[in-house]
Amino acid sequence: MIFSATFSQCRLCILAVLLLVIVVIAVVASTTLASVISGDSPPTVTNDTLPGSSCASSAVGSAEALVGSLFTAINAAKCEMTRADQWPADFAEEALNNGLREYDFVIVGAGTAGSVVASRLTENPRIRVLLLEAGDDPPIESEIFTLSSSLHRSSYAWTDYAETNPNCCQGMRMGRCYWPRGKMLGGSGSMSGNIFLLGNQQDFDRWRQLGCDQWSWEEMQLLYEKATTASMHAASVKPVGELVLNYFEHLAEHNDLTRLVLNASSELGLRYIPDLAEGTRVGYTEAIPANIKSGRRMSVAKSYLGEVARTRPNLQIIKNALATKILFSSDNSRAVGVEFLLRGRHQLKALVRSEVLVAAGAINSPKLLLQSGIGPGENLIELGIPQLADLPVGHNLHDHGMLPLLLSFEREIAVSQSVGDPQSVADYFLRQSGPLAASISIMGFINTNASSSSQFPDLHLVSHTIVPAGTDRNTFEFLQLRDEIVDGISRAANNRSLLQIYGSLLRPQSRGRMRLRSADPQAHPLIYNNYASERADQLTLLRYVRFVQRMCATRAFRNYGLQMLHVPIEECDKLAYDSDAYWLCYVKYLYIGAWHPVGTCRMGADTDSNAVVDQRLRVRGVNGLRVVDASIMPEITSGNTNGPTTIIAEKAAIVIEEDWNEKVA
Ligand SMILES: Cc1cc2nc3c(=O)[nH]c(=O)nc-3n(C[C@H](O)[C@H](O)[C@H](O)COP(=O)(O)OP(=O)(O)OC[C@H]3O[C@@H](n4cnc5c(N)ncnc54)[C@H](O)[C@@H]3O)c2cc1C
Ligand SMILES: *[C@@H]1O[C@H](CO)[C@@H](O)[C@H](O)[C@H]1NC(C)=O
Ligand SMILES: *[C@@H]1O[C@H](CO)[C@@H](O)[C@H](O)[C@H]1NC(C)=O
Ligand SMILES: *[C@@H]1O[C@H](CO)[C@@H](O)[C@H](O)[C@H]1NC(C)=O
Repeated sequence: MIFSATFSQCRLCILAVLLLVIVVIAVVASTTLASVISGDSPPTVTNDTLPGSSCASSAVGSAEALVGSLFTAINAAKCEMTRADQWPADFAEEALNNGLREYDFVIVGAGTAGSVVASRLTENPRIRVLLLEAGDDPPIESEIFTLSSSLHRSSYAWTDYAETNPNCCQGMRMGRCYWPRGKMLGGSGSMSGNIFLLGNQQDFDRWRQLGCDQWSWEEMQLLYEKATTASMHAASVKPVGELVLNYFEHLAEHNDLTRLVLNASSELGLRYIPDLAEGTRVGYTEAIPANIKSGRRMSVAKSYLGEVARTRPNLQIIKNALATKILFSSDNSRAVGVEFLLRGRHQLKALVRSEVLVAAGAINSPKLLLQSGIGPGENLIELGIPQLADLPVGHNLHDHGMLPLLLSFEREIAVSQSVGDPQSVADYFLRQSGPLAASISIMGFINTNASSSSQFPDLHLVSHTIVPAGTDRNTFEFLQLRDEIVDGISRAANNRSLLQIYGSLLRPQSRGRMRLRSADPQAHPLIYNNYASERADQLTLLRYVRFVQRMCATRAFRNYGLQMLHVPIEECDKLAYDSDAYWLCYVKYLYIGAWHPVGTCRMGADTDSNAVVDQRLRVRGVNGLRVVDASIMPEITSGNTNGPTTIIAEKAAIVIEEDWNEKVA
């Protein structure tokens, strides 16, 4: 999770703004542009090709040519960003016309994990893979990552809601947690905040204690190196990986804000973290590794798939293909293929010689297993689905969650222009920089456990971004808060700028569950998230609130008169403001999901009855079937989940190829 400082509101305005840019920039910068135009014969631009040319000024033509060249340059940059050939070709037409071949592997889902596994397996030209993806190529708002929150409610998202949980999300519309996930090449990683972290060593030590002794921190670190090219430390790291990482671009205008937060955290004794790529640990930093290159999202779909798929005859991808069922041999012992619905109307089957790999994400992977008869009996019996294997599919659902806190500035702090300013748009399309290419996230990891002095943090504080005075209410749109909460925030802010901080539990204790609502594969699942239902989680969130209050008491924050904003919430306002009871009530309303669901096809030792997959990610009790994605995590890692999911897929590709070699040898 991460949020652009300013807004998610620019969904409709890009084109309108482009027109504005033409007028504004041409006036300001016509001298620079003159160099673009060669010699003394300016390109001919007719009045009707030039938007905005109906203005009243008289002209002989060269001014129009300048403005036209700017429009051309911006349009060319935009077209370059939406080039279809940066994505793999779609095999759908050929499949419809000529039918499907037999494959070694069919992979369901071209999200973070599915893209990586498909790419790695097909490095071996003997392995033939079919990759099925329910969505299509990502739109331009995915490329311009600062606009990606506008995808949360679009056709590029799975738009599920959790069932009502009295312990959280009461301040969201309908009082239910909204649960968007990416439905396009790259999956959720195509609409994420691009933070790319590995986690903490102790996360993987915990996995080992839970019986996953074939997964070690040392191996995870090696795979992180294999997966990425950390261009920010050019000399020190071997540039081998597919995924290019950079620190988020920081704008000079935000230096004061960065200093403010780092000063406050250092007053509280927190150290600066010089390199998060080495793992998350206690401290604060603004140097956040992100999968971004030249201001554009570097998703695994682009790097692992887009760059190679067109050169690999052994890799075929079908877009708009919703897997509806895993097919089994007549004795139900072995997965033999996948049934899928193409473009909502064609029912097709793809058969495998070797295995079906399910990489549909932490909600849709368990959903597909359940639809295919793998899961707890009670859910299957009620829906009339014959049970093939009795496994705790859909259990162990958890997520970091996040609790927003807002602080108001008494003394204003400098912020940059908004992403929607014409100058910002021009900076982005002409120079890949500026507010649309930048993020002003600053993050902290803190350990609030009084009885442990360890470097293993229990809370993650993200964002520390500014909502400038006078910002419109759309800023909070991506949070899907009820209108009365947003109105209350505006009133309480009283036209002062706000500092927003989001606190997440790194080791949530609460566990939820997903189930099938219906046997219809197109129906929404039932999600019981149970977030914040454990007392321990509520108390950790309370310690987060108290930590932020200690930040307010630092010299740095007092200097700007930063104070916790009292968000009006009727039920909570019946309690004494700032009491523990008050904040626990606040948690009920504003603690929401962090879009990091994991754990629903839990990995474990062979003896572990809570496990759905073994350590080689094979679904227990059947042959030829694995789950490879965020759902296999036995416990969530200490940091955003895209990095660990990428590494899980890297490791999966290795073990799958090992097993395949053994079989064909
Ligand atoms: C809004 C948002 C912001 C986030 N921000 C960050 C961040 O900044 N940093 C970070 O580390 N993590 C972030 N995450 C989390 C991260 O993106 C996920 O943990 C990660 O993408 C999970 O990868 P996955 O492969 O398990 O699933 P996904 O990436 O979700 O991939 C699943 C894929 O399977 C496809 N699919 C599903 N069902 C079917 C089916 N039946 N048939 C065919 N295809 C199917 C989906 O369309 C999707 O493409 C964010 C997530 C969201 C939603
Ligand atoms: C941060 O601390 C430094 C050193 O004390 C000080 O010069 C600077 O003004 C502070 N900046 C902010 C924004 O608090
Ligand atoms: C705090 O740390 C101690 C010692 O490591 C541990 O036993 C305890 O469970 C922790 N408490 C919480 C609330 O995490
Ligand atoms: C709110 O603050 C902004 C920036 O300080 C200012 O430009 C604007 O006029 C103010 N609006 C109101 C309604 O006071």
